[in-house]
Amino acid sequence: MKGVIIAGGTGSRLMPLTKVVNKSLLPVWKYPIIYYPLYTLASAGIKDILIISGTGHAGQFLELLGSGKDLGLNLSYTIQDKPGGIAEALGLAEDFADNGKIAAILGDNIYQDKFKEEIKKFEIEENGARVFLKKVDDPERFGVPEIEGDRIIKIEEKPLMPISPYAVTGLYLYDNRVWDVIKKLKPSDRGELEITDVNNFYIEDGTMRFSIVNGWWVDAGTFPSLLKANVLAARDIKDLDFHLE
Ligand code: DAU
Repeated sequence: MKGVIIAGGTGSRLMPLTKVVNKSLLPVWKYPIIYYPLYTLASAGIKDILIISGTGHAGQFLELLGSGKDLGLNLSYTIQDKPGGIAEALGLAEDFADNGKIAAILGDNIYQDKFKEEIKKFEIEENGARVFLKKVDDPERFGVPEIEGDRIIKIEEKPLMPISPYAVTGLYLYDNRVWDVIKKLKPSDRGELEITDVNNFYIEDGTMRFSIVNGWWVDAGTFPSLLKANVLAARDIKDLDFHLE
């Protein structure tokens, strides 16, 4: 299975840090942020990875990571011309995915856990989609799932009154129907193609599964969460060893 890192957007919530540096290249502990989602994919055996970035400072990714050879990865790059939503960015990976399943991760999401088993299982025996949920204090900042037993029955994007204390985190596994799902999406009220609408398609289709994230998870897109990510990574992650096998 191939992987995609969705690292576009403008990083406006982190100005002026993001004025000349791409958000995903800001430091968290010893590494530029993008090393963490790269590691999340690599530790599940995913080596073919497409990095999708916006137009601003896109060359910095190439300067930092090149072909990916030093990390034992095979990296490709593409540009999202305007920030039309996470689902629009993911849609740019259709040719790269070559009609296979895809693991997508947001470029500013940092996980303490590894997901090797879930990702391998999805690759080999599951169809549909899988999302990863984490209990948080501020679910209104995220996609929030309504859960009944072992199923999600709906996800609401940034609800004013969250129905559960869970966030849908930024790691998504999809089968190859996702490309057609994205093509049929309509822009939301904020003018974006929403990843939550992709997930709601699979929920209605009855083929959405979920895992609970046990370790900590941070979306490093705001000042407080960037600080938190630094503190937690320094305490718990220390070194990222990409030479896994
Ligand atoms: O972090 C998890 C959350 O990510 C989910 O719970 C939400 O359901 C999901 O919509 C998303 O919410 P955010 O408000 O955090 O999304 P944000 O606009 O910050 O974008 C997340 C990443 O995706 C960010 O690194 C930039 C990238 N992105 C975003 C947009 C809108 C793109 O590459 N292209 C885009 O057009």
